[in-house]
Amino acid sequence: MLNINSFKKMKQNRDKIVMITAYDYPSGHLVERSNTDIILVGDSLGMVVLGYKNTLEVTLNDIIHHTKAVRRGALDTFIVADMPFMSYHLNLNDTKLNASKLITEAKANAVKLEGGSDSRIEAIKAIVDCEIPVVAHLGLTPQSINKFGGYKVQGKTQEKYNEILAEAIKVQQAGAFMLVLEGIPEALAKEISETLKIPTIGIGAGRYTDGQVLVYHDILGNSDYLAKFVKTYADLDKEIPQALTEFAKEVREGLFPQAEHTYFPIEEI
Ligand code: KIV
Repeated sequence: MLNINSFKKMKQNRDKIVMITAYDYPSGHLVERSNTDIILVGDSLGMVVLGYKNTLEVTLNDIIHHTKAVRRGALDTFIVADMPFMSYHLNLNDTKLNASKLITEAKANAVKLEGGSDSRIEAIKAIVDCEIPVVAHLGLTPQSINKFGGYKVQGKTQEKYNEILAEAIKVQQAGAFMLVLEGIPEALAKEISETLKIPTIGIGAGRYTDGQVLVYHDILGNSDYLAKFVKTYADLDKEIPQALTEFAKEVREGLFPQAEHTYFPIEEI
């Protein structure tokens, strides 16, 4: 299995790092079979698996439950588990306990948390101090949508650009081993990626980050909403209903099951 040193080397060698989200046993297994470097059990699971409008309702127990399933399907892949909204905001003791559960109970290899404010920097330091690797996440952080007034690209003014660049330097200093950059202009992601020693993973952050991440259902075309930065590589929104409709039709027409799908007593074979 790859580890945090592998990702550092990949950046040094300019080998792109591939991260894909997964949420359960089958998606974990399929992502592992696709030779992906890192699986992220993202809190996007609230939207793509649980049907919530945003990520804010996802609980620590949801992430634990889903990470355990992903681990059963992906025994050999480095797994990052998302820390959900308010699981690292209240105090450092809760933060450390919650992060530790994602490692000891859920069997993740690292945790991810959003933001670069002073209290988020303290949270990163506290978790790293527990020997737990941390992925930071800056830019359009979905847990901040109420503060941002929606899903809005961040870092477009010079002031915000400088703020995100400064936060990126701070998360590295706090001990994060990787940084996800979401929904920011390409030039900012490029400057951060060239400035930092730790690898950057982009989503809607252009072409120059050290790796890319996309949501499993978006890649497969099985999503209610596709952002500009998504490229789909399959059309499951079409193929899955087609297959299910075909099954229903064959049942109704008496075409399924056939003899080949049926058990018989030995003497009849
Ligand atoms: O929850 C998630 O899937 C994420 C990625 C979009 C980076 O945080």
